[in-house]
Amino acid sequence: MKPRAITAFLDRYVIGQDEAKQTLAVAVYTHFRKLALADGADSGLAQTKSNVLLIGPTGTGKTLLCQTLARGLKLPFVTADATALSQSRFVGDELTALMLRLLEQAGGDPQRAGRGIVFIDEIDKLASADEPERAGAGRAVQHALLKIMEGSLIHLPGGATIDTRHTLFICGGAFVGLDAIMAGRTSYGFIGTSDSDDGRIIERLNSRIKPTDLFAYGLIPEFTGRLPIIARLTALGREDFVRIMQEPADSLYRQFRELFRLEGAELVIDPPVFAQIAELALEYKVGARSLRGIFEELMTPVLYTLPDEAPGSRIHFRSLFSAPEKTAAGQGG
Ligand SMILES: Nc1ncnc2c1ncn2[C@@H]1O[C@H](COP(=O)(O)OP(=O)(O)OP(=O)(O)O)[C@@H](O)[C@H]1O
Ligand SMILES: [Mg+2]
Repeated sequence: MKPRAITAFLDRYVIGQDEAKQTLAVAVYTHFRKLALADGADSGLAQTKSNVLLIGPTGTGKTLLCQTLARGLKLPFVTADATALSQSRFVGDELTALMLRLLEQAGGDPQRAGRGIVFIDEIDKLASADEPERAGAGRAVQHALLKIMEGSLIHLPGGATIDTRHTLFICGGAFVGLDAIMAGRTSYGFIGTSDSDDGRIIERLNSRIKPTDLFAYGLIPEFTGRLPIIARLTALGREDFVRIMQEPADSLYRQFRELFRLEGAELVIDPPVFAQIAELALEYKVGARSLRGIFEELMTPVLYTLPDEAPGSRIHFRSLFSAPEKTAAGQGG
């Protein structure tokens, strides 16, 4: 798949985040180009690895992007939570378990597993904390991850060995407070005519997160050095929420319409309702994650009585603040 095809696929499930999609698509494409090289030549290009770091507020699509990517590329995909890793006393065992899951996802084929995607979430939680004990644990996890991210042979119980040299590692984290660190650093001079190309490039460079920023945030330098590609996800707004509820191939609206259809009924929701839900969701400040909860709350009373309605009925929501209209079959709408 070429980068454009990858972003086109991502667009079907993930709303907005164009910059992150592009960065991810290029990274993945390049990664697999290198794979093709690695089989033959011993070139420098084939030897370098480009793991990706996704940075963005909670509920903006980091996990969703990786999941969708793995699905689109039909690659084995596993996720791990860095917080859980740092709470475990046996990080090595946890990582082994993770790679076992990857092997399972690959149908037991170690070669295929080695070319899969490993997503490690909440990587920002590994940054040194105030308590020395937690900071130590975070550092230990970073060191353990370093090795497998760079590429090493992981021997699994049962005899299989996975070579992670060609595994794509994607790390994700919210990195709350990183903006303040970035704002504090000196910027490249010249900003101004930001619609000139030069201005835009400089602006991009300035808004770029540098390994030193992550270092200042508390990650160890060796670790940040293994994540050369950084993609940012932006906070989602009202309009994004409205689209997220309706547009993706597996959107909430589509899911619930399907559910109603299974009961022989039709669900109709007017645009103001989506706008009102989006407004509420904004207040929860957990990104798009709150949409499902609000949606389900709205639907529960209707779903409760739906199986008792006559087949062919139509349930029509016009506002979040009034009960839906029910129309029996054949009564027009
Ligand atoms: N850009 C988006 N497009 C469509 N749906 C989205 C988007 N962002 C979030 N969602 C919805 O919100 C849910 C949570 O998103 P996701 O798990 O990707 O958040 P996250 O960025 O990984 O957050 P966290 O930092 O808390 O892990 C998704 O399952 C999806 O339904
Ligand atoms: Mg996530």
